Amino acid sequence: MQIEEFTLERIQSLYENLVEFNLSDSGVHPYSLKELLTPDQLLGLHEVELGYGWTNGGVELRDTIARLYKNRDRENVMVTNGSAEANFILVMTLLEPSDELVLFVPNYLQIRGWAKALGVTVKEIVLREELGWLPDLDEVRAAVTPKTKLISLCNPNNPTGSLLPRETMDALVAIAREHDVYLHADEIYRGSELDTEESTSFADLYEKAVVTAGLSKAMALPGLRLGWLVGPAKEIYGTWQRKDYTSITTGALSEHIANIVLQPAKRAEILSRSRRLLRENRALLTSWIDAHNNLFCYLPPRAGGMAFVRYNRHINSSVLVDRVREEKSVMLVPGDVYGLDGYIRIGIGAPKHHLEVGLGRLADFMRG
Ligand SMILES: Cc1ncc(COP(=O)(O)O)c(C=O)c1O
Repeated sequence: MQIEEFTLERIQSLYENLVEFNLSDSGVHPYSLKELLTPDQLLGLHEVELGYGWTNGGVELRDTIARLYKNRDRENVMVTNGSAEANFILVMTLLEPSDELVLFVPNYLQIRGWAKALGVTVKEIVLREELGWLPDLDEVRAAVTPKTKLISLCNPNNPTGSLLPRETMDALVAIAREHDVYLHADEIYRGSELDTEESTSFADLYEKAVVTAGLSKAMALPGLRLGWLVGPAKEIYGTWQRKDYTSITTGALSEHIANIVLQPAKRAEILSRSRRLLRENRALLTSWIDAHNNLFCYLPPRAGGMAFVRYNRHINSSVLVDRVREEKSVMLVPGDVYGLDGYIRIGIGAPKHHLEVGLGRLADFMRG
């Protein structure tokens, strides 16, 4: 099987640990165990038995996750190693080579890579800055055909930080329902909304929605490698069959901690820390862009751990990012990886000082 390079992940794995200021991360600065847990909970880790557990996720954890959604129970939940595994299993469960996938881009491009490798026809709905990085619903209607099996999107969006208004979500559900197709929403950034309440999950709006999510982004715990799928029981059972072929189970320690952090009060505390940090950094970035408005402009993100920034200089975004990394030891993500040259993605989930210094170095580079 041929598969295109996942450039976004590849450049991050090559360089993100080698630079002084990594602004390529799309999440929120992670917790240490000591910051996250109480002394009693830390002691409780000593008692965790390091067995295999359940291959679809422990019953208690699946119940906890189901409670994050309306009218769902453990049969509607599959626990995975990160939401990356959830996205992979979703493709392997729902798509066949002759199917068509309607995919909103820019997006975290994992689904596109796997779908193309499988021989699925991918029809892209391009989100445009002039529409606030939101979809044109007429384009979506025109893209859906009798061969469409799945509409897939990321909300809140990576990399633009856009957030679908409720009426757009309803309209998308109406389109999916009319054509009886699945709707996949990657909701890993849900809970990191910066100006509004937590957005509604597509799982609460549509019976054929399959949601992937996890603890890596809004919840600031990527090292736990804990994700999940929520969807109709039959399709979730299908994902279980694939899970047996991939990683068997998630780690016992990660499941144990997930059960603690997904309890409502603890989850709210974590999300509030994330929002606080992201709001402060968004304000910092906005002032910085205002001060350099001859060089940069952007639509401030409405959620999530990153900003998608347009720059005003005749240089390819990959070349720019390579040079900033080599000359200033600052790591960014080029718009190129999303097929959108002329943009860079700047992580806003880093500690404030880190972002400040990284931006200072970027400004030096641009002026130099
Ligand atoms: C939108 C989106 N979905 C999924 C993932 C995979 O995350 P993880 O496997 O850490 O849960 C990422 C990682 O950057 C992402 O940005």
